[in-house]
Amino acid sequence: MSILVHVHNILRWVLLTLLVFSIVRSFIGWIKHRELKEGDVKLWLFTMICTHINLLIGLILLFFGRFGILNSGLPDGVVLMKDVFYRFFWVEHPTAMILATVLITLGRGQVKKQITDPLKYKRVFWYFLLALLVILAAIPWPGREIIGRSL
Ligand code: HEM
Repeated sequence: MSILVHVHNILRWVLLTLLVFSIVRSFIGWIKHRELKEGDVKLWLFTMICTHINLLIGLILLFFGRFGILNSGLPDGVVLMKDVFYRFFWVEHPTAMILATVLITLGRGQVKKQITDPLKYKRVFWYFLLALLVILAAIPWPGREIIGRSL
């Protein structure tokens, strides 16, 4: 299982990088009224696939990981919503990341819509930017008390 935590961790950086590139490129496409580029469509697809893979790994960790719901369960005496650690890893982190995955999936889905190319760029920009903010807020960054993890 620890290998999955590593992969989950590394994919965070891949995803953040892809998201930033996607956002910059969609912003340029939007303000320059560009025609949709094949490269951008591919970039958004890779971003979505990367998110889905991390979602899948996250779900496995959540249920079968070292303190997974179906593995260790809640320790005796711990009340889920009153415990900062379990509330974060069982509720806040998964909920936020699932929301971000939905946003990225909806964003990349704009490619198939019958709308103008600049509008596609604009919508992808907003969906992906929102997803990035959600992800940044829900990552267990090192400085965070109790839930913080190393980079
Ligand atoms: C899709 C974007 C996601 C990102 C960028 C992300 C990022 C991270 C990071 C950086 C860690 C710390 C890893 C470490 O200690 O080295 C982590 C841990 C964890 N994540 Fe995610 N995560 C995502 C989605 C999810 C989802 C959707 C779930 C559950 C449904 C989830 C469940 C977990 C769990 C349970 C841990 C703790 C694992 C352990 O320490 O055993 N993650 N995540």
